Amino acid sequence: MKTSGAAWWRDAVVYQIYPRSFLDTDGDGIGDLEGIRRNLEYLAWLGVDAIWLSPIFPSPMADFGYDVSNYCDVDLVFGDLASFDRLLDEAHQRGIRVMLDWVANHTSDRHPWFEESRSSPESPRRDWYIWRDGKAGKPPNNWKSAFGGPAWTYDEATEQWYLHIFLPEQPDLNWQNPDVAAAMHETLRFWMDRGVDGFRADVVHLIGKDPELPDRPEHLAHRHPVSDHDDPRTHPLLRSIRTVLDSYDGDRAMVGEVNLRSAVSLRPYYGQADELHMVFNFSLLFAKWDPSRWRELIADAEAAFAAPHAWPVWVLSNHDRPRQRTRYGGSEDRARVAALVLLTLRGTPFLYAGEELGLEDAAVAESELRDPGLRDGCRAPIPWSGAPGHGWPAEPWLPWPPDADSRNIAALRDDEGSILHLYRRLLGARRRSIALRNGTWELLEGPPEVLAYERSEHGERRRVVANFGEAPVAFGSRSEWVVEVGTRAALDEMTWDGALRPGEAVLLRPVDE
Ligand code: NOJ
Repeated sequence: MKTSGAAWWRDAVVYQIYPRSFLDTDGDGIGDLEGIRRNLEYLAWLGVDAIWLSPIFPSPMADFGYDVSNYCDVDLVFGDLASFDRLLDEAHQRGIRVMLDWVANHTSDRHPWFEESRSSPESPRRDWYIWRDGKAGKPPNNWKSAFGGPAWTYDEATEQWYLHIFLPEQPDLNWQNPDVAAAMHETLRFWMDRGVDGFRADVVHLIGKDPELPDRPEHLAHRHPVSDHDDPRTHPLLRSIRTVLDSYDGDRAMVGEVNLRSAVSLRPYYGQADELHMVFNFSLLFAKWDPSRWRELIADAEAAFAAPHAWPVWVLSNHDRPRQRTRYGGSEDRARVAALVLLTLRGTPFLYAGEELGLEDAAVAESELRDPGLRDGCRAPIPWSGAPGHGWPAEPWLPWPPDADSRNIAALRDDEGSILHLYRRLLGARRRSIALRNGTWELLEGPPEVLAYERSEHGERRRVVANFGEAPVAFGSRSEWVVEVGTRAALDEMTWDGALRPGEAVLLRPVDE
């Protein structure tokens, strides 16, 4: 395993695993680290370079792990430190990097830091969280919580309010207190000492706050601050976090969840190559199936992330949003076109486990909903086979996604024309091509329903032509190009005739290459 050298994360395709839903091995219906370890062979076969595990730390699970009660251990439901070390070691043996989910903005209300903080206004840890007096019996300001209701909870015993931008069980840490920053840095060191390659930093744009905590302006008062909080105090905090990562060998990397909605507003979070290594750009995660909108969003990102260190990140699905195929109305053709675009853009793509199967969200009955944010559908368990139980030893904690009898890993691995093989072919093509990994991106003019672009680097060229529409289209340059990967496998290695069926896309290479 290489421990230094070029930034691995620029060349990587990262695969997000929601551990509860990947594979259970101990029969409690909840996925675990052993379920991931046993399937490293699958991930290596698929061709991903790194995995990011949604939180695995001890947690009361009010927000399924995004409420951490101990940053330096593994929740019993997932395993223990020994099972983590084994997973990390075997992943590394296969050349797969491992990133953990670092929940920076808040802890669980059951974290000993908060228990101590809430115990008394005189507690030495009182100031580790954000406590304020109310205003005439009302919360200290007008902030709303992301899960509804005010972002403040009153503590009867100490007669003050504490801030929680998420659930009351997720009190916000006070990062303006240097002891908090130091303690959180220690948690990064704990995992880097064990050998993890990096972190996904949860809502990390929220950590810097104006200590005055002013009311939000009237026109924003109805909305929680997560998608517009952009405080300059976050940047020095990110710089000291970066210093901690940089003090280790092996290019440890951090990708930040910064929930701001435009590419240009994400740009400052890279700093001068001294803040986040990567910043999620969620623009396509929220985009409709509209080629002109995709053209615009990709071009915006190209303009915003032009500096060499502002390396773009692309995402079509995660554990917080309906899966891409569901968002595109259930069409597998569209899911295939989207995959071909995602894996040929300039920047690091993040996949969400199950998207390579073309999974749709599970239909979860109201009585079975578990998540306070109602995101259960996209968190359904991964079906590993068509057999009863789909490879799980007990009934999983959430219902299966649609068509699990036929849409499962074993069945799609056996079918070379499946969407799973499309992902694998795209990952292989990306690995082989410097133009795809590193090259420039240039939009090509074409019919309105077509998204087309060219990537090039060191004389190597690749073209992508994607038909978002419902009718066949023609797109020039016949017989100069060969299909390297088509959304329909039958197109592979054919000389490109310029014709695309509805809902079809191709990755092309020059005939003479
Ligand atoms: C963002 C995470 O992705 C989401 O799942 C979680 O609920 C919030 N942050 C709070 O940690």
